[in-house]
Amino acid sequence: MTSEVMDATDTETDRSPRPLPGAESVGAGQMDATGRPMPDFPDPQPLTGHGPARIIAMCNQKGGVGKTTTTINLGAALAEYGRKVLLVDFDPQGALSVGLGIRTHELDSTIYDLLISRGHDVHDVIQQTRTHNLDILPANIDLSAAEVQLVGEVAREQILSRVLRGVVEEYDVILIDCQPSLGLLTVNALTAAHGVIIPLECEFFAMRGVALLVETIDKICDRLNPRLQVDGILATMYDGRTLHSREVVRSVVDHFGDQVFHTVISRTVKFPDATLAAEPITSYASAHTGAESYRQLARELISRGGAA
Ligand SMILES: Nc1ncnc2c1ncn2[C@@H]1O[C@H](COP(=O)(O)OP(=O)(O)O)[C@@H](O)[C@H]1O
Ligand SMILES: [Mg+2]
Repeated sequence: MTSEVMDATDTETDRSPRPLPGAESVGAGQMDATGRPMPDFPDPQPLTGHGPARIIAMCNQKGGVGKTTTTINLGAALAEYGRKVLLVDFDPQGALSVGLGIRTHELDSTIYDLLISRGHDVHDVIQQTRTHNLDILPANIDLSAAEVQLVGEVAREQILSRVLRGVVEEYDVILIDCQPSLGLLTVNALTAAHGVIIPLECEFFAMRGVALLVETIDKICDRLNPRLQVDGILATMYDGRTLHSREVVRSVVDHFGDQVFHTVISRTVKFPDATLAAEPITSYASAHTGAESYRQLARELISRGGAA
């Protein structure tokens, strides 16, 4: 599929951002894309100090639903609002790291080393990104071995939690980009987290697998991490021109009610473009509706108490 087909709102002659109907174009009080009145999400208050961080896992065992894109761009939007943000790449594919300009095959140490051996200091693995206030714990394919290696460990579900304890006081928000599975790495992310954000792609099978994910979250809440809660369900790749997209969003709201964020992320080629440029959309196309959507998501998350 070409870029042009993916986003008819961006043409060769007209690069100006134009909202899709029913997504970002609504103001407070108007009906939003989820069919509910859009509340006002005010600009967050500046912080006077930093930490301890609220830890959020970006989770859906389905691939290609917008986990990595949301981790990068929500993180960058929170950083714009003055929050100190750490992104954790917890997918051996390393897409989060690559998407922020890190050459993953050249890394001396990654999150893998922190999980596997106690000799490493988390501060030596953290890298700054080009975005102010936005740091990353990178990963590469090495991480794929961790799942097997950790199986025999004592308290194998709590290893990431232990790693993050070393930096939790220094950040306001830590976002963990999970891999598309419900294996031991994802269980580690959910055990370390205070909250989960579940991105759902607006297409027919969006809800398939979500019941299993919710069941997993409930089990982890029962057995390993009683503070864990669902911070919100995020509809992504929404196309307001299609009845189909609108129907999927409505059915997600029918099913999950207030857990669904009012903010909906539209489908636009600016997201893959920004990833190729190894930048968040908030700097790559700062005025684009896609950037505005992630800023709105940041404000919505803060106003819900999901971040400082
Ligand atoms: N809102 C969007 N509109 C268009 N393309 C998107 C959008 N969000 C993500 N993508 C693209 O879809 C693909 C999968 O997204 P990604 O965030 O990597 O999903 P996941 O991490 O869940 O596998 C990537 O190529 C990404 O650039
Ligand atoms: Mg991903």
